[in-house]
Amino acid sequence: MAERFLNYIGGQWVPARSGRTFPNHNPATGETLGEFPASGPEDVDAAVTAASRAYEGWRLTPAPKRAEIVYRAGEIIRAKKEDLARAMTREMGKVLIETRGDVQEGIDMAYLAAGEGRRMFGVTTPSEMPNKWAMSVRTPIGVCGFITPWNFPFAIPSWKIMPALVAGNTCVFKPAGDTPESAWWFEKIFEEAGLPPGVLNIVFGSGREVGDPMVVHPGIAVISFTGSTEVGNAIGGKAGALGKRVSLEMGGKNAIIVMDDADLALATEAIVWSAFGTTGQRCTAASRVLAHAKVHDELVERVSKLAASWKVGDGLDPSVQMGPSVSKGQLETVQRYVGIGKGEGKLVTGGQALTAGAHAKGFFHQPTVFADVKEDARVAVEEIFGPVLSVVKVRDLAHAVAVNNASPYGLSSSIFTRDVNRAFTAMRDLDTGIVYVNHGTTGAETHLPFGGNRGTGNGHREAGHTMLDPFTEWRSIYVDFSGKLQRAQIDNS
Ligand code: UN1
Repeated sequence: MAERFLNYIGGQWVPARSGRTFPNHNPATGETLGEFPASGPEDVDAAVTAASRAYEGWRLTPAPKRAEIVYRAGEIIRAKKEDLARAMTREMGKVLIETRGDVQEGIDMAYLAAGEGRRMFGVTTPSEMPNKWAMSVRTPIGVCGFITPWNFPFAIPSWKIMPALVAGNTCVFKPAGDTPESAWWFEKIFEEAGLPPGVLNIVFGSGREVGDPMVVHPGIAVISFTGSTEVGNAIGGKAGALGKRVSLEMGGKNAIIVMDDADLALATEAIVWSAFGTTGQRCTAASRVLAHAKVHDELVERVSKLAASWKVGDGLDPSVQMGPSVSKGQLETVQRYVGIGKGEGKLVTGGQALTAGAHAKGFFHQPTVFADVKEDARVAVEEIFGPVLSVVKVRDLAHAVAVNNASPYGLSSSIFTRDVNRAFTAMRDLDTGIVYVNHGTTGAETHLPFGGNRGTGNGHREAGHTMLDPFTEWRSIYVDFSGKLQRAQIDNS
């Protein structure tokens, strides 16, 4: 019988109150990996109550001490890196070198966030009045709710939860239904690191039964979400109407621009890695190439040849380069867009789901490239979140920038050129939260802000020097030591 996992609420491992469970499957083999609580609003309520109770004690724990626990969690993650990576590959499919990278991002984030415990700088500034002190400090907000996706099951909860904890908040964590085991490990590690009961609670279950009740729960002050634009905007509407702080990290349609002076061999490697790494299921994945007309044909040939050489299979097999889509639904989306793409461009490689032999029980699809795609074609505009790449021909840099910026999304973009003037023009003009020069669109590092413009986000950045912003309020403090009433803007004007 499959292993049964539990929620963690108020320092206790407990089943869903209803006793219901849902299975966790391996998308490469169909095997059942475990049973997780199919929680409901009553479990959310219990978690919020526990987090509210724990808040006062945690808020008053010195930040360096809070941060030491996060540091210890980083040490435990490091010790368990290989086991965590294997568990993640089993439940979501991406290849082992990538799941190791995902776990590494959690380790990096733990060390980075732990450092904030001894920084968390405020600002002092002179008062306009004599004998008066002025400063501003960060304060925690309260109970924060986290709704996280399946594509980076360790890195994304780390970007969000670690800074929130260091800042003194308590947490309710609802991970994606497709990757509950990675999240269970995350929770377990924080328990082992010594986090007091109630500070980090995990509630497994669906968006409807757990996510929605969190979004409208009066005890949750902040909602931090990563996932689709559709769901994110719905969350933003509901939580925003209740006056909550909402931090949204949503879709992308990231482009790699290849100019006529680019190193085409390098660009090819970067394109294939950015488009088909994680089976195209990164918010940062390259799903468009904007190729200068002079190099379009040669680039298409090189990219399709390399893409066709990629071995698709079970991510636990070290010779495999691309794993399955995470679920049947995700594979069906890929197939639907491949159908649309066939009417919009020229299919140069791929185009088929893999269903025979070793692929029979998983959600596999070939890396797929369309060329001669019009800039406003659906496959060049809409997020697919699968191994499908569209190549659009552009006249010059200005045209490429215009096509890039016309996207409803604005997460990451990239330019390949050897011309420093073009590179700096692109760095200035590409309207995305992340810009790469001579590098693909994936691979953001934790100590730089992560997030995007337009439909990708709502003005927040995660990690980097901005990591505390979604989870703290600024408090401005004035101390008057003059011993008399001093009226600002009046007595000194
Ligand atoms: C995501 O796809 O949501 O920059 C996160 C990258 C990774 C994180 C991706 N470090 O590709």
